[in-house]
Amino acid sequence: MTLATLPSSIRRREFLKAQQIAEKLGELFTHRNMVPAFTGFYMFQSLNMTFLAAILDSTQIGDHERYINKQFLHELSTDLAGLPVYLSNSTGIRYVILLSPLPRLPKKVGLPLDTPHGRLAIGMRFNMESVVVGWETTPHIAVLGSTGSGKSFFLQSLAIQAIRDDMKLLLCDMDQTTFGRFEHHPALIAPIATTPPAALERIEKAIAECDRRAELFKRMPELPQKIEEYNAIAKRHGMETLPHILVILDETSAVLGAMGGAKGSLGQALATLGWRGRKFGIHFVFAAQEFTKEIIGPVREQVALTVCFRVRSAQMAERMGCRGAERIAEGRPGLAITDRFGLVQTYFVEPSAFQPKTLLPSVSEQERQWFSRAVDETKGRLSIPILTSWGVRERAARDLLDTWEQRGWVLRDPKQDNARYLTSKLMGILSLKHPDT
Ligand SMILES: Nc1ncnc2c1ncn2[C@@H]1O[C@H](COP(=O)(O)OP(=O)(O)OP(=O)(O)O)[C@@H](O)[C@H]1O
Ligand SMILES: [Mg+2]
Repeated sequence: MTLATLPSSIRRREFLKAQQIAEKLGELFTHRNMVPAFTGFYMFQSLNMTFLAAILDSTQIGDHERYINKQFLHELSTDLAGLPVYLSNSTGIRYVILLSPLPRLPKKVGLPLDTPHGRLAIGMRFNMESVVVGWETTPHIAVLGSTGSGKSFFLQSLAIQAIRDDMKLLLCDMDQTTFGRFEHHPALIAPIATTPPAALERIEKAIAECDRRAELFKRMPELPQKIEEYNAIAKRHGMETLPHILVILDETSAVLGAMGGAKGSLGQALATLGWRGRKFGIHFVFAAQEFTKEIIGPVREQVALTVCFRVRSAQMAERMGCRGAERIAEGRPGLAITDRFGLVQTYFVEPSAFQPKTLLPSVSEQERQWFSRAVDETKGRLSIPILTSWGVRERAARDLLDTWEQRGWVLRDPKQDNARYLTSKLMGILSLKHPDT
């Protein structure tokens, strides 16, 4: 790597830093009895940031696990004076080290309304892209942060997205400041719990639902292993599908404290729900100002994402895999360190997000076009052949019709083959005129 071959926008200071790091990396590996099989280094820029990439020859290192695990990346970052270290292992193993300062994330980013069905938008990342996860890979989430750091707003953003995704909710809100606006919402399968015993009851209700679903699974001839399989089979047989359920527990430490701690009834129930819920589409999110080892211990394994807002203790942030959260400024509510995506500005929930219309599942621009076309050209009739004639693949057309039917946007008419018709509910959402009227 010579300065002459680099893009001119790379500063001399960054180049010298890169050279130092390239030399130091070898030492850091040897010191840990790891093979420093680096085959090359290069610098690149992206979004006004400068990176150094170090390529490792993975054929020389034996077991990869040590080279790519999170703890090791954390250690490398510490040894490099806190510079962020990322891993790119799409082709071989590459360590990518950020040399320039992180760009500033906006202080407030509104919750996007066009997240695809079944996916969850968490916030905006340093590269200004949205962090979006699926419930299947992120069944349970832990949220941590001091008072005023943004936990409640974040929990609201999750609940809103769940509602828009046709999920059902079980909410626990001891100080009654987080979910006030969701009271009496039809997506709730029980009233919001405001006392620790009521919270325990809600968790037990979720576990009972696991039991009920386990029985339903057993009765299916094809023996489904997870909710997606169950629902696919149910649809094929014209049976009712099962909605995903989101359980949210705010002020977890206080609630657990009142119910005998992690080993008490609630702690045990949470651990049970953690390992049983996933398969049955029952997810939980729990938030607290502090997590002790005892509290997080039993559910740790089940948590696929930790979102850590500003906290006081560096040790606690570290324990949750969110190093550096103790350095988030007090004036930055909503800014968080996550264990999977690093620094994220979580989405801000505008009061308008609570209006009934926005709480409905969203209609994408493309869907809107198809629906208007159906009104204009097919008298509100939709079928697989119609959609395919408009350029939709057959498989996608079938899935779309199923999703729309579940949402009550289209209805089958048994008298007229198997076509579906746009419902007045959908027309209301779209403010279109029904073709019959
Ligand atoms: N994502 C965000 N973006 C910008 N500002 C935010 C965001 N989330 C929260 N805030 C601001 O920070 C304030 C406090 O947030 P919030 O009530 O969510 O904190 P909290 O962590 O739940 O605190 P507590 O532990 O006291 O309940 C909010 O009133 C809001 O103005
Ligand atoms: Mg709160």
